[in-house]
Amino acid sequence: MAVYLDNAATTPVAPEVLQAMIPYLSEVFGNPSSTHAFGRKARASIEKSRVEIAKCIGATAAEVIFTSGGTEADNQAILSAIRKNGVERIISSKLEHHAILHSLDYVPETVEVDYVRNNELGVLDLAHLEELIKASSKKTLVTIMHANNEVGNVNPIDKIGAICKAHDALFHTDSVQTVGHLPIDVRTTDVDMLSGAAHKFNGPKGIGFLYARKGVKVCNLIHGGAQEKEKRGGTENVAAIVGMATALCNATKALDSHRAHTTELKEYFRAELLKLEPNLAFNGADTKESLYTVLSVNFPAHPRGDMLLFNLDIEGVACSGGSACSSGSNKGSHVLAELKQKNDGPNARFSFNYMNTKAELDTALAVIKKVWCGVSV
Ligand SMILES: Cc1ncc(COP(=O)(O)O)c(C=O)c1O
Repeated sequence: MAVYLDNAATTPVAPEVLQAMIPYLSEVFGNPSSTHAFGRKARASIEKSRVEIAKCIGATAAEVIFTSGGTEADNQAILSAIRKNGVERIISSKLEHHAILHSLDYVPETVEVDYVRNNELGVLDLAHLEELIKASSKKTLVTIMHANNEVGNVNPIDKIGAICKAHDALFHTDSVQTVGHLPIDVRTTDVDMLSGAAHKFNGPKGIGFLYARKGVKVCNLIHGGAQEKEKRGGTENVAAIVGMATALCNATKALDSHRAHTTELKEYFRAELLKLEPNLAFNGADTKESLYTVLSVNFPAHPRGDMLLFNLDIEGVACSGGSACSSGSNKGSHVLAELKQKNDGPNARFSFNYMNTKAELDTALAVIKKVWCGVSV
């Protein structure tokens, strides 16, 4: 039995999400920009989906713009801040996803970029953040992720939002790993922009959204038609939008039960791994303060270490070595490089979803026992 433990990379599409999408890949095929009945039906589904998604995060429909996923939403947030909201300085962290860090490499030279300090567990220094904001009178954007995709650290976005608000800075958070997994309410958190991606909460790939608070101006990255109020040209992916709304509504309704089940899985896996290898270390903040879907494991040095991920894959266990989005690239992880690693052996990120079962974890643990401990079961 193959076991998929790479849910921070992407999650399986939930069966009810697939069912909700199918009509939009068959009989409801109109172009949402057409004014005839076929088009109007597709348009109505898009707008209904927008309302549903907005409701799940406490926003209004007008504050939600559809994108092709998390990367595009992150790019759009940064460029909107610069092009439309007078931002001349950006503060971020070295632990952000490449969707943020690489976008920051391309901001105009006139825009200053600073990074908030983190400690060896990857915890951000909020006093330093405040110092940085106060050090300049330039209009500032703070972009800090809600939870880290590699080690699972959850950043206190309520506190960060309050600091930003107190100093009149804009705040964007990349919530790609937390939308649908942690409660998010933009009415109570001072966040100006927020990115989400459906494939991280059992929706389809290639669709996401940017939330931009009323009053925050959004720039257009894709020129063409007048779709998305001229913020994103191109015929909408109706099936994916409907799928994203269904997935987020389901995830929001079932959040507590999914969280309880998944937390139990993570804690069980962590404890059983320690029984197999007592010298294991875990990357990032205390696992109790980290996202319940992510467990980043640092193995001790061992000759079998080099082949660990390869052997797990051969035996049917899918996990990731660093960031999922760079799996396939052999560059080391920029996030792990920021942290102090206790061991010199390989790192493996196991990430869980409500669809995983304890039986799957037992299968994965038996495989780990075989490939790491050299004990066949
Ligand atoms: C924190 C974070 N931000 C952004 C992205 C990019 O999202 P997408 O793959 O939907 O473009 C990812 C994907 O792994 C992520 O984990």
